[in-house]
Amino acid sequence: MLSMYEIIRKKRDGLRLTEEEIRFVIKGYTKGRVPDYQMASLLMAMFIRGLDENESRVYTDAMLNSGQIIDLSDIPGIKVDKHSTGGVGDKVSIILAPIVAAAGVPVPMISGRGLGHTGGTLDKLESIPGFRVNLTIPEFKERLQKVGACLIGQTEEIVPADKKIYALRDVTATIESIPLICGSIMSKKIAEGIDALVLDIKTGSGAFMKEYEQSKELARQLIGIGEQFNKRTMAYITNMNQPLGNAVGNWLEIKECLDTLNGNGAEDLVEVTLTLAGTMIFLGEKADGIEDGIDKAREILRSGAAMDKFLEIVVAQNGDTHFLFHPDQYPKARYETEVKASTAGYLKQIDALKVGLAAVLLGAGRTRSEDEIDPKAGIIIHKKAPQKVEKDEVIMTLYTDNKQIIPEALKRLQDAIDYSETQPIPESLIFEFLDTSKA
Ligand code: URA
Repeated sequence: MLSMYEIIRKKRDGLRLTEEEIRFVIKGYTKGRVPDYQMASLLMAMFIRGLDENESRVYTDAMLNSGQIIDLSDIPGIKVDKHSTGGVGDKVSIILAPIVAAAGVPVPMISGRGLGHTGGTLDKLESIPGFRVNLTIPEFKERLQKVGACLIGQTEEIVPADKKIYALRDVTATIESIPLICGSIMSKKIAEGIDALVLDIKTGSGAFMKEYEQSKELARQLIGIGEQFNKRTMAYITNMNQPLGNAVGNWLEIKECLDTLNGNGAEDLVEVTLTLAGTMIFLGEKADGIEDGIDKAREILRSGAAMDKFLEIVVAQNGDTHFLFHPDQYPKARYETEVKASTAGYLKQIDALKVGLAAVLLGAGRTRSEDEIDPKAGIIIHKKAPQKVEKDEVIMTLYTDNKQIIPEALKRLQDAIDYSETQPIPESLIFEFLDTSKA
């Protein structure tokens, strides 16, 4: 007879857990037989002591089998998804899914909501009136088959263990553990029914993993889990010191996606999107190599085929396309305030974490899961590092309905700007590509 007390003690003392013990814990906690206090204690022991490769595989498998694994075998083609560890202004999924689907690669995408200072794809999509992210699995499959891409939220049936464990980790300071993150992310991705996966591991101030080596280790271990489950997995480590693109905030980001799909995208956003999309097209066997995949992605974006596919996705998920054709008619935030340069010089950095936190304050994110978000709230960034600015030149504009928080948001945004007298060397956007866990 297994005992939770013994399992906690073993992990506390740095011993390896058996497959039977890990499955006992995950099943017991999902079914409500293991209380929160014991699970929290075990998670902390796992956080401190870690999990070895085999424990990590079993933990992921136990999470995966806590719910339904979507069977997409009746949909032709190699199904490929992308997962980003989250950032500020990261609206890549919304541009990439239509590009990859237009290339003939099915994209089953289960996305998340905003978390802390980072935005969430579901919140952004829901700023389009009527857009449904809460589809049932049969509805999800039907749209994936018909349109080639479908973007939904986690359902009750998919990895219920993660829903409970993530909520507990969130309040017990056990989020930033590489094996626990791997189990959480990979179980959900594998449950979607994918054949292959591209990971965008963010590093820098606005990322969840701020240190480069930690980000790289996370990438390696995520790929390792992918390999163990026979899912071809590739990863990029990308820069999240500054927000990606120019908009931060839900509708503002959808508007930036429309501009990008119409051929007027910000350079950094386009580069990351095409690289990830091209890699997915290659993994989906619709290109001869990654470079060829990127060329195909660029052409799909240029030709307008990605925009057409995006409209198809929105319609299939009950979204109203009116504001997509007339974005200027979208309701406006009540207040609009400019953030001006306090000095002349070069912009060295616009700190992604500080911008993300200011966006939350303006109403674009949540501090508690039950908070309502304001789709109109956010920030438009007009100038980024390493551009030159004159004193009093407008660097950002903030949008909110909440007048009281404007002085605090302004202060935080001023504080996010770092100046330099000399022209800074532009930072790389994509640091590294990994396609095996042995790299
Ligand atoms: N995102 C997830 O889905 N899970 C984690 O553990 C961390 C980030």
